[in-house]
Amino acid sequence: MAKLRTVHRCTECGASHPKWAGRCPSCSAWNSLVEEVEETRAASTLASIAGAAPAVPITEVDATDGTPVATGIGELDRVLGGGLVPGSVTVLGGEPGIGKSTLLLDVAARRASLGASVLYVTGEESPAQVRGRAERLGALRPNLYLQAETVLPGVLATIESLRPELVVVDSIQTMSDPDIGSAPGSVVQVRECAHRLVREAKERGTTVVLVGHVTKEGGLAGPRLLEHVVDTVLSFEGERHHALRLLRAVKHRFGATTELGLFEMLEDGLAAVADPSGLFLADRRKGVPGSAVVPLVEGQRPLLVEVQALVAKSDLPNPRRSAQGLDHARLGMLLAVLAQRVGFNAGGGDVYVSTVGGVRLGEHGADLAVCLALVSAITRRPVPDDLVACGEVGLGGELRQASQIQRRLAEAARLGFTRAIVPMSAPNGVPGISVLRAAGLSDALGLADLLSTDRFD
Ligand code: TYD
Ligand code: MG
Repeated sequence: MAKLRTVHRCTECGASHPKWAGRCPSCSAWNSLVEEVEETRAASTLASIAGAAPAVPITEVDATDGTPVATGIGELDRVLGGGLVPGSVTVLGGEPGIGKSTLLLDVAARRASLGASVLYVTGEESPAQVRGRAERLGALRPNLYLQAETVLPGVLATIESLRPELVVVDSIQTMSDPDIGSAPGSVVQVRECAHRLVREAKERGTTVVLVGHVTKEGGLAGPRLLEHVVDTVLSFEGERHHALRLLRAVKHRFGATTELGLFEMLEDGLAAVADPSGLFLADRRKGVPGSAVVPLVEGQRPLLVEVQALVAKSDLPNPRRSAQGLDHARLGMLLAVLAQRVGFNAGGGDVYVSTVGGVRLGEHGADLAVCLALVSAITRRPVPDDLVACGEVGLGGELRQASQIQRRLAEAARLGFTRAIVPMSAPNGVPGISVLRAAGLSDALGLADLLSTDRFD
């Protein structure tokens, strides 16, 4: 009989600790440790079953391995760099209700329409519920098989007999193996079940997609825990009550993680957003202080995003600094540069910065627009409506080049903007938009009409 011991496992990072703590000593997540009975046998059993793989001369290795197969859902294929790779395991993470089951049922049905047999394992909903959704989505296919199962060996047996090309497990948190001592849903169960499905995928060349719930509270194991186990981790985000959904890769063994997929949740399923820049700017109010537009490049796609800032008198000893869509530390740095290099000080006030649509400003090319929005909020002077700005801001207040300026400017021109503030070193502009070059922040503020004697401090 295997030895049992009690550990406290972090549901965020999977680290185990002998003692409970309010904060995980490994990843610093709060309230993430749950008590768990750990069976010390699990790891060694796993190793012995895996056996030794034969060594193969590198010249005889099949280089076509790893070629993605398109899912037919453009925005998903964009994020995956072409599609799902046979024999790979992908986790689709996201909060309940975001649309994970909807997206994967669509993937499953499209693959099934090409003649492949596809297995959709439903551990949460009944087959009748899944069928109901499939009817609404137009996803009924005779070779799309549903299995309502939460016991892993049952799923493995079906894979053995059905030999599907694609398996969707909805969700990995509902799967458990009775041979593993821990409770269903526990970190050990989730990780071990994922391990077994990974082995199955690699041995058979089956494509596996796992749904992974991300919950802010509770003992469910999050996709972060599975990051090391699987090939690809996708994150599906958005506000449940808004239609916009953002899909991105957090980890991708077969390609870049820079592409952003954009969907809208409609009555009959998820649809690609045809004109993302247009959508993000649709509700923009002109002439309002604290707003600036930045042309971003998300992967291969240019995207115009509005940055909003608000600076308000604070009655807190430590004024609030709220950054949504950008790094908190980056906001702190930009505020410091504004104060030290150009004399705009938000020091005593609460500062809120956010991006419209929940787009994350992952690149420093958005720095200048954040600064313009902040100064506009401080001075209460609007940034001109026809202006976009991009460039990285250095600690000296200097402006540095952002990549692919011309693509950004072309997108801005398409959306009707006529002027762009860019760093001195930027290449020539594109038709329809005049380029205003600035060496540093103070030049840029002047060009954006934000330097004036009647400034508010
Ligand atoms: P679902 O895919 O069940 O989310 P998850 O699997 O991530 O929990 O979808 C959740 C929401 O989407 C649900 O509230 C209903 C809505 N929805 C639509 O608006 N249109 C549709 O066509 C479908 C299938 C769902
Ligand atoms: Mg679901």
